[in-house]
Amino acid sequence: MGINMVKLGVNIDHVATLRQVRRAREPDPLWAAVEAQLGGADLITVHLREDRRHIQDRDVQLLAQSVRVPLNLEMAAVQEMLAIALRLRPAMATLVPEKRTEVTTEGGLDVAGRFQAVRRVVHRLRDAGILVSAFIDAQPRQVAAAKKADLEICEVHTGPYANAADPVARRVQLEKVRAAGEYILNSGMQFNAGHGLDERNVGAIAALPHVGELHIGHAIVSQAVFIGLREAVARMKQAILRAREG
Ligand code: PXP
Repeated sequence: MGINMVKLGVNIDHVATLRQVRRAREPDPLWAAVEAQLGGADLITVHLREDRRHIQDRDVQLLAQSVRVPLNLEMAAVQEMLAIALRLRPAMATLVPEKRTEVTTEGGLDVAGRFQAVRRVVHRLRDAGILVSAFIDAQPRQVAAAKKADLEICEVHTGPYANAADPVARRVQLEKVRAAGEYILNSGMQFNAGHGLDERNVGAIAALPHVGELHIGHAIVSQAVFIGLREAVARMKQAILRAREG
């Protein structure tokens, strides 16, 4: 892998969202995972939510058995999800906050505020050989808490950057992500980023120094409706590559 390579984790939750609105068999997340891999996905991500609004337990089980790239399971840091992760052994787990009423993950995990509980879950997952990441806001106190909780990876929430109202606000948010990334790297952890990224706004994040993985879902699945998932993933990979080549 070239020094300039940033990996793309493709979140296929919303393939399951479309299936669940009809409680049907299609579209199948397993098929989506194959297409995403053929398009160049470096990881496949799914979020098994406590309310099972999209991905189901069976999906995670089948994906864990079949994907050829690392499977990243997004999960709340709670006992139920811990037990599932320990049983299915995804390559990677990303700890996320979860509220039943939210439309999507709204903010980062409060690692500092839930320190003991998070650290316990991190240790249980790591002991099982699972790589553990936490989805955090771009705040120094969360990075410091993540390091203390023995996390190996931090995924910085890029939602505030993606949703910034104007270019000035966007620059401010980008700088927060960059600074958090620098702190994460200086703390010896891997720096990932994600949420709200699309082909237009991904460039500035992909160009940040030593960012390891970008995790992208909604924009890719939305594009896939029109051009197919394989092509949508390939285009996102190209957008990332263009940014790295700068
Ligand atoms: N990273 C994390 C931790 C997430 O929870 C999500 C949304 O499920 C994403 C990345 C992807 O966000 P989006 O769907 O906006 O690309």
